Amino acid sequence: DSRSLLTVIILGASGDLAKKKTYPALFGLYLRDLLPSNTIIYGYARSHIEINDFKARISKGLKGDEEKKKQFLSLLHYHSGKYDEKASYDEFEKLISAEEKKQSGVERSNRLFYMAIPPSIFIDVSIGIHGSLISKNGWSRVIVEKPFGRDLDSSRELVSELGKLFKEKDLFRIDHYLGKEMVQNLMVLRFANAVFEPLWSKSHISSITITFKEDIGTEGRGGYFDQFGIIRDVMQNHLLQVLSLVAMEPPVSLNADDITNEKVKLLRCIQPIKMNEVVLGQYTSDPEGKIPAYLDDEGVPKDSVTPTYAAAVFHINNPRWRGMPFILKCGKALDERKTEVRIQFKRPDNFLFSDDDISRNELVMRIQPGEAVYLKLLSKKPGLENKIEQTELDLSYRHRFENLDLPDAYERLILDAIKGDHNLFVRDDELDVAWQIFTPLLDQIEKEKIKPEPYTFGSRGPKSADELSKRFGFIRSLGY
Ligand code: BG6
Repeated sequence: DSRSLLTVIILGASGDLAKKKTYPALFGLYLRDLLPSNTIIYGYARSHIEINDFKARISKGLKGDEEKKKQFLSLLHYHSGKYDEKASYDEFEKLISAEEKKQSGVERSNRLFYMAIPPSIFIDVSIGIHGSLISKNGWSRVIVEKPFGRDLDSSRELVSELGKLFKEKDLFRIDHYLGKEMVQNLMVLRFANAVFEPLWSKSHISSITITFKEDIGTEGRGGYFDQFGIIRDVMQNHLLQVLSLVAMEPPVSLNADDITNEKVKLLRCIQPIKMNEVVLGQYTSDPEGKIPAYLDDEGVPKDSVTPTYAAAVFHINNPRWRGMPFILKCGKALDERKTEVRIQFKRPDNFLFSDDDISRNELVMRIQPGEAVYLKLLSKKPGLENKIEQTELDLSYRHRFENLDLPDAYERLILDAIKGDHNLFVRDDELDVAWQIFTPLLDQIEKEKIKPEPYTFGSRGPKSADELSKRFGFIRSLGY
């Protein structure tokens, strides 16, 4: 309402994430008229940048109407200061409250803090916010970006340190995959359709594969990436979130806690991952030798064994899934950009048709690019011949919905944080169990210095990954 003011404070405002995601998402909300009419946006970082240079920098990341851009840029402020010094935050506080006071008739000043900073300074910045910047007459909420630690111990330490400063209800841990349209649709598809739920178990499904593919390498981010590797970067968070939504039991209600309770319960049923059910890969240069190999990326040690590709089989020990494999695959520098869930069904018990066609029913939920849900079916080839062929029931968003204008995941998440809705954020116990699943595997990989299998930039990834899927009964059909 008009008596409350929103100040968004972006810590790490001069960084890549802020430029590529945070500011564009705020602009997206602005264009949709979803930011409160009284909004101030303050950037904070160490670098001294003139406000006009800062605006020019941010402007490059914004797409849309020039006039709107100008109006949005006029909401931006920037201040430079240290991350580990109270005096800097105190000085910043004075600027923010002076700016807030300029707005008339305001009774509540709400503050949304967005930590777009590296994990090494999470705690310093949290102390700074807590010590100097908390709103005196409104709510203060903090959005934190991953990585939340690099193993169970460091994650617990982070949770406990932040827990001393902020209440769980004021903390919003982002996993931006939860903000994606198709990820949101997973629960609707599962629980709103009578045709899927009865089939949704090991009785009718032979395997579920969740794939994340990128067609770019680390591209100068190698120095950062090398400290984490693909399992921490993508599998432990984004893919595990998708897995929980695909596999969890129906929640009691759509309330955030009820959903998270089911996710946590599911995650606790995951069996320890076995090294002989894991494939690790690292990309080499492309066939022409033009694109740098991972080891040639800036900041990557020449003898690094950090994986840029990982595939692993997950076993969920509960009545619905016991004995049925979940295959998670993720990698950089592959042949395409694609994230999808592929549910492969068993063949009907009494299969009357010739056995040379080995294709199966598959339900595919494509998260990106080109959101789609399609179901592969066997159908009679039209005409006099008695042949069957594979065809599809296809719900491609672009064909089905006119003028599709999907918000970026970050738009939805920032809006939810403004509303105080935790539904799409990661709860502390959920994070804990995610680390419990991956820490033993990561420790083993590091202790035994397991060498990743090389794969060519632009390829399907390590050969052993396809073999792993095959070993677990996945039948590769045409077009996959
Ligand atoms: C980030 C990872 O969390 O997700 C990146 O750190 C990855 O390495 C990115 O590229 C992928 O996000 P999206 O939305 O482009 O699929």
